[in-house]
Amino acid sequence: MKPYVLCVVLSIATSILAYIPSLYETNAQRLARGLPPLPPKFVRSPTATTVAKRQVSAVPLIFRGKLEVRSPPDNLVQGCVRNWETVGTISGTNFGGACLEVSMTVDISGQGPADIVSTNALFPDPFYVGAGSTVTQNNPILLPSLKNAVAFTNVERTYPESAPAVSPRNIFVESAIWSINPSTGKLSAQWVNPDGGKPSTQLAYNIRSNSLFFVGNITLWNENNNTPASLVDVYLVPL
Ligand SMILES: *[C@@H]1O[C@H](CO)[C@@H](O)[C@H](O)[C@H]1NC(C)=O
Repeated sequence: MKPYVLCVVLSIATSILAYIPSLYETNAQRLARGLPPLPPKFVRSPTATTVAKRQVSAVPLIFRGKLEVRSPPDNLVQGCVRNWETVGTISGTNFGGACLEVSMTVDISGQGPADIVSTNALFPDPFYVGAGSTVTQNNPILLPSLKNAVAFTNVERTYPESAPAVSPRNIFVESAIWSINPSTGKLSAQWVNPDGGKPSTQLAYNIRSNSLFFVGNITLWNENNNTPASLVDVYLVPL
């Protein structure tokens, strides 16, 4: 840039700046003109607790991928959670077919209760991956002393910590049941009983019927069913 051009530019800039100070007048000047003082520029420095809270809510973790079903103790991969157009939607593994793809937003600890939502569902609404009764009108209870099961299925969105909610399909559902280990992607579920109780909620897999469901006591479930199921883990893994 030539020196005289620079001079012109600078003088224009200076003349623009000459107008600006009126926008930045002091409170004394404002008061002299009958205006209220400006609000303080700096807010009180926040406490450690409010900083921690803000970080948790402001910087959520977002996980995307498929849901891999693995059997302990060796983490043998059974497949991914399936994506069927028809009844039985996600309540089993894929057996070579399409995997359900999901997204989960959770605070930085991975601790829920959080939702997992399907992002490539072949089935119609609802799209949340959750737990629900299979039988209309049956409000399910899980307890270590009961043989009961609750289906692993697609459900409507429910409030965190809420007891089973009646869906428009007239079954009882919960979506916000998930937590994740951010370093391994291992998911854990927490069903809430109708009385607000939080029973041990284990994911079970019956390979013969290719069905996934939650139980409160796998031993009791197996004693009351013809084909055995075993406990499995589910991991949210990148595609
Ligand atoms: C499951 O039920 C069996 C049989 O009643 C019992 O022995 C076992 O302790 C129960 N498991 C849990 C985790 O409570």
